[in-house]
Amino acid sequence: MYSEKELIRRAVAAAQNAYAPYSGFRVGAALLAEDGTVFTGCNIENAAFSPTCCAERVAVFKAVSQGMHRFTAIAVVGSPNGEEPRDYTAPCGVCRQVLQEFCDPQTFRIIMAKNENDYRTLCLAELLPHGFGGGFFTKE
Ligand code: THU
Repeated sequence: MYSEKELIRRAVAAAQNAYAPYSGFRVGAALLAEDGTVFTGCNIENAAFSPTCCAERVAVFKAVSQGMHRFTAIAVVGSPNGEEPRDYTAPCGVCRQVLQEFCDPQTFRIIMAKNENDYRTLCLAELLPHGFGGGFFTKE
């Protein structure tokens, strides 16, 4: 089973592939699936700005496109280009909503890391209280 530290290491490595020429802020994510598979992502920016996709969503979309729908944790690391992380990077609101679609809000862990020895972990329900999901309108 992947430890938090191992997941953070994968996120740090993924951030090296960030395509962030506009913000200069490089983000890496490592998403742990229920079967133990890890899917990584980095932010991919765009000259038109709004098509930019965050590292977390890249990881989720990679995983779902490969048939994986259930996840237990994600590690996220972000820093300005060429610098060590100063803060714990928290997933944006859109990424929280995308995670809500596939993750149990009470148990899914979001590991926000500066490095493998300095991180904080919250569950999705703490970052997205009263989250909206398909249960609101799908029939039993
Ligand atoms: N970004 C992420 O990839 N994940 C986050 O959790 C926060 C923001 C990216 C989007 C954009 O490329 C850059 O960071 C600055 O907002």
